[in-house]
Amino acid sequence: MLRTDDGQTIKLADYRPSDFLLHAVDMTIRLFEGRAEIETHLALERRPGVAASVPLELDGDELSLAGLTLDGAPLDSSTYKASPDGLTVFSAPASGRFTLTVATRLVPEENSKLMGLFRSNGIWCTQCEAEGFRRITYFLDRPDVLAPYRVRVEADKAAAPVLLSNGNPVESGDLPGGRHFAVWDDPFNKPSYLFAMVAGDLDAVHEQFTTASGRAVTLGVYTEKGRSAQAAYAMDALKRSMVWDERRFGREYDLDVFNVVAIADFNMGAMENKGLNVFNHKYVLLDENIATDSDYAGVETVIAHEYFHNWTGNRITCRDWFQLCLKEGLTVYRDQEFSADEREATVQRIGSVRRLKAHQFPEDQGPLQHPVRPGEYREINNFYTATVYDKGAELVRMVATILGRDGFRKGMDLYFDRHDGMAATIEEFLACFTDATGTDLTQFALWYAQAGTPTLSVSQSYDPEADRLSVTLKQALEPGAAATQTAPMHIPVRFGLVGSNGQDKEAVTTSEAVVGDVIHLREPETTVVFEKLGDRPYLSALRDFSAPVTLKHEQSEADRLALARLDPNLFNRWRILNDLVAEALTTASRSGADATASPFASEIVEAILASASDQSLEPAFRAQALALPGETDVARLVGENVDPDHIHAVVEAARRQIGESGARLFQELHAELASDGAFSPDAASAGQRALANSALAYLVAATGDPAPATRQFSEARNMTDRLSALSLLLHHFPNSPDTIAALAEFYERHEADELVLDKWFALQATIPDASALERVETLAAHPKFTLRNPNRVRALIGTFAAANQVAFHRADGAGYRWVADRLAEIDRINPQISARIATTFRAWRSLEPVRRDYARKVLRQLVDLEHLSKDLRDIVERSLR
Ligand code: TRP
Ligand code: ZN
Repeated sequence: MLRTDDGQTIKLADYRPSDFLLHAVDMTIRLFEGRAEIETHLALERRPGVAASVPLELDGDELSLAGLTLDGAPLDSSTYKASPDGLTVFSAPASGRFTLTVATRLVPEENSKLMGLFRSNGIWCTQCEAEGFRRITYFLDRPDVLAPYRVRVEADKAAAPVLLSNGNPVESGDLPGGRHFAVWDDPFNKPSYLFAMVAGDLDAVHEQFTTASGRAVTLGVYTEKGRSAQAAYAMDALKRSMVWDERRFGREYDLDVFNVVAIADFNMGAMENKGLNVFNHKYVLLDENIATDSDYAGVETVIAHEYFHNWTGNRITCRDWFQLCLKEGLTVYRDQEFSADEREATVQRIGSVRRLKAHQFPEDQGPLQHPVRPGEYREINNFYTATVYDKGAELVRMVATILGRDGFRKGMDLYFDRHDGMAATIEEFLACFTDATGTDLTQFALWYAQAGTPTLSVSQSYDPEADRLSVTLKQALEPGAAATQTAPMHIPVRFGLVGSNGQDKEAVTTSEAVVGDVIHLREPETTVVFEKLGDRPYLSALRDFSAPVTLKHEQSEADRLALARLDPNLFNRWRILNDLVAEALTTASRSGADATASPFASEIVEAILASASDQSLEPAFRAQALALPGETDVARLVGENVDPDHIHAVVEAARRQIGESGARLFQELHAELASDGAFSPDAASAGQRALANSALAYLVAATGDPAPATRQFSEARNMTDRLSALSLLLHHFPNSPDTIAALAEFYERHEADELVLDKWFALQATIPDASALERVETLAAHPKFTLRNPNRVRALIGTFAAANQVAFHRADGAGYRWVADRLAEIDRINPQISARIATTFRAWRSLEPVRRDYARKVLRQLVDLEHLSKDLRDIVERSLR
């Protein structure tokens, strides 16, 4: 267990309900320049059975008490105790309801943590998940305390013509002195983390939406002044999300209004506050001149995600923060399904699996490992992780695979029915699927408790005499840093038996482990026999990545190449090819290998080029076939003694090898697919741009000729093409006069747009050269750089540490030192951001000895700093364990 002087460990096993019940919240928020006055009336009641001697204990964080009454009467100072982090009332009535009125005073302008009430470009804004409400007022700030809220906001009319909160608007009007007010009423019980208030001078787009049952809803997307035209795509995505949730899950929206606000200073992507979603403006504002295709996809996904939380998160919330995956894993699953339906399912699945492997696998296989439902934490902010979100979504996907589409829907219907208006647990969630379908999920539930990526080993043998294929599956889970148990789990393995004609053969078997196209592995090892095949099939295993495992499939290269060409499951066609590519890069990256030699056997290059040129496939899929694993993916596969310079050289050599072999194809693709005018953000058009830009990248890598990239940069009519070209120029020719001119032109053109400036900073942070460190040092002193805006910090420092393997991992340790020094500075401003960026050190133990020593040294120096936040300390200490 973890222990430090300043941090206690919170444990799931210690959960108990609150001693007091909360029946209603009535708040008044008065906003002024330089201060905010908060008055909160809490209708409370001692929980029956709780002794009268037990005091009422409310949470606080950096608060100061400005007034306190109980049923209207001031409290004697001996009957309560107030401190910045809590308010204890010793005189709460033994029984019956009472009203506690708490006044606090805040200075939103000084709130640089962006939790609680803060200001962003003049806009007053709140962020309460997970524990931000206690920075606004003293409260039972826990997700299992639910109540209806009535909120009155008052502000200067000129400074804040728009006053928003949760629920429906019920009243508004003018006040003396140029001030005005608005009252919002949220009838749905909610925990405090879903509270929100926004006030400011905002522009908006509005549209009407009619739900399936005929309820009229006014939708609003609010932006900073002058930017509402860039909210059109977000509004469109919102309406599509609302329709999809009705069709796919039978879930309708429930209030008269649904508002989205775009904010420039925001710790994460967005927040699902009831009826008032608050977004990082990066996930709302776009048009083709400022945003890439992946920005469009990001807006669509995040809008859907936050909207879907209305049912999975808000109507049914989490009992405690250990259950975070109950809302996040499920909601990511739902947004992935939405994107699969709106775009191209296989390409979406490839993207999700790439993401899982790039972010969740290293987390699950390193010192920051934790179960999808953790058993303990010191700082909950550090558990908004790829494991909780993305592996959490994979677990829901496995439930759907095990139960089938109809069974899954039945279980979801029961969940909505049974737990609406409540705070639930993972056990309760799983019980709905069992009760709706009769399927026992006891063994499956281990996925929530056991940390680490299981290894799934598959082998097969075909007996031509008997015409039988035996398939043996084994599972293993190594004990890891989280020290959870490693019992065998229920692993659903989707499969196909592919004939040489590229069609699936019927799977004839007497094995009870096989249901339809899924083998249910429950034991450490199982053998399944298939009969009446006619001839030897190719075994296509783990189709659609049906379980988040490391697959070790003993299969000949010939079989794998055959499947990469003809597997009717397109996901597996990609996956098998990608595994061949990743293995070759890994072999070439191990110490002792020649980093500059061509890493691929010619068959692999041919397979890549065959996919890339196959006109029967979606361009987006072809682009995925061309996309190499990232350098951090290769580092994870190499596993020990990692030399990032060596890996970088190998990946460059791979790019050259593919580029040279496919030069003619790439020339054709780039010419054929180059954008010819009108821009459309749809998935098919984006896929064409992706393939064209991938072709361009290979051309430049193979020829070393900047001309086509220079031309594309100056002729591009959308950000996707412009940024791709600029990226190639910067990566291959960072100091050429043309590149310097292009970079300067880009800056001048977009200087006024914060979101594009982030791209300008981020791109320079990725230049794969040791001197990129000096460049980011210089950029950190640029007038447009600030440590106060999380997007800017992530763009320059976060990108450098996460995406520049060469310069961050400089062999002289200077990259580590620079990032660690910045972390110490950021930590004093915004600990959530410093802690998040610090996770880039987590793989330090797998580095070669020289870098490993430097990394350990800077981590130890960080721990020794006196004023480290709880957030950053937790990450660094766990990284060192
Ligand atoms: N619940 C949010 C989501 O996943 C994420 C979130 C958690 C968040 N904590 C936050 C967003 C703090 C902003 C700030 O949709
Ligand atoms: Zn979420």
